[in-house]
Amino acid sequence: MRKTLIVIGAGLESIPVLQRANEMGLHVVAVDANPQAPGFAYAHEPLIGCVYTPEITVAALTKWSQKGGKPQGVICAAVDAPGTVAAVADHFGLTAVSVETARLATDKKAMKDRFKERGIPIPWYREIFSAEELACIQDERRETLVIKAVDSRGARGVLRLVYGSADMPDPAWSFACAKKESPTGRVMVEKHLAGPQISTEGFVVNGESFCPGFSDRNYEFLDRFAPNIIENGGDLPSFLDQDTQQAVKDLSGQAAKALGIKNSMFKGDMVVHEGKPYVIEMAARLSGGYFCSHEIPWNTGVDFTGTAIRLALGETPSPTELTPSFQKGVAQRYLFPKPGKVQAIEGVEDAQSMDGISMVEIRTAVGETISPATSHPARAGVVMARAETREEAIKQVEKAVAAIKIITA
Ligand SMILES: Nc1ncnc2c1ncn2[C@@H]1O[C@H](COP(=O)(O)OP(=O)(O)OP(=O)(O)O)[C@@H](O)[C@H]1O
Ligand SMILES: [Mg+2]
Repeated sequence: MRKTLIVIGAGLESIPVLQRANEMGLHVVAVDANPQAPGFAYAHEPLIGCVYTPEITVAALTKWSQKGGKPQGVICAAVDAPGTVAAVADHFGLTAVSVETARLATDKKAMKDRFKERGIPIPWYREIFSAEELACIQDERRETLVIKAVDSRGARGVLRLVYGSADMPDPAWSFACAKKESPTGRVMVEKHLAGPQISTEGFVVNGESFCPGFSDRNYEFLDRFAPNIIENGGDLPSFLDQDTQQAVKDLSGQAAKALGIKNSMFKGDMVVHEGKPYVIEMAARLSGGYFCSHEIPWNTGVDFTGTAIRLALGETPSPTELTPSFQKGVAQRYLFPKPGKVQAIEGVEDAQSMDGISMVEIRTAVGETISPATSHPARAGVVMARAETREEAIKQVEKAVAAIKIITA
């Protein structure tokens, strides 16, 4: 009999996961709050529920199951919703992260407390309750800090406070900016760890970790978007030497296990600071931004999304399926038009026809307003290139980005 998979999230970036589930012959039930969610077109059964409110989604699925629905797996796609996945899995007795793991993975303070307890290298951090406390810490520590909401996502309200900088934002403004992004009004600061940043993505299978996903993150616009920290895509394979890469992969697996991830996937924000790997954050879900669905398979041959779905269905993939079989070049960049009203969008077809360009996705339209880039969802489009080498992919993606003009006024 066809197995049924519940997919939490049916937005634009959820589509590749929904498509993969279809290709695998599964019966797909997608959950999203938006009745117009584009991913619903790829589901056998669209269901209205809130991806970030487990009780609402469990209630919607309970009704669905009373009419005869019976799931074999649950996964979230391009939404940071392990809490909802865990609650649904609990309710139906499915394989997924536990409610406790989901809590640790979505509360940056609780996560760092767990890492500290388990000896996982992390930046210095502290929860703070006022702008005055931030000012005191800045005076005391005299180093670059990052202030963030304890429980937000997509880099919303994450600010780099550069020690000694002339345009350092005021503590009251910084604190308010982070606080407003936290649903619970909680804020924390961390030491900013300088050094190459890496996105990792992997699996824990029967206690063993595999980390096929490894991308250098591009932060060329740190100054342009300061004090916000906005990523501009990434490059694969990594420029880091093999030993450093292995150390980052091993630490990612340890961190995932420290959060209690078992027979499921993980996604790490890692940094190599003064030659040593540290964890900035570890998520208990699939990545968004087409990392798991496009970049990792193009780079390594690993069917990351398919494997994650199989784990969610309670299957056990073999180590060879979790291990890269090659290292090809992939580069991703985002589009950052000047803020204003979009007058025209040009050069898209030119960009699409360039060698190696495998995706051009424009996320705006004439007449829409481009706001200043203060979070990742604000990016106006994405371009991806594939080539034999990393260098060639970077050259091609940059050429395509330069050809696309989103004219604003
Ligand atoms: N202590 C730190 N040192 C260096 N860089 C940091 C630090 N904290 C955050 N960053 C950078 O800012 C990014 C966003 O921070 P964080 O991951 O905590 O927020 P987020 O809202 O979960 O963002 P995202 O969805 O991009 O992961 C990190 O991925 C990292 O690049
Ligand atoms: Mg993060």
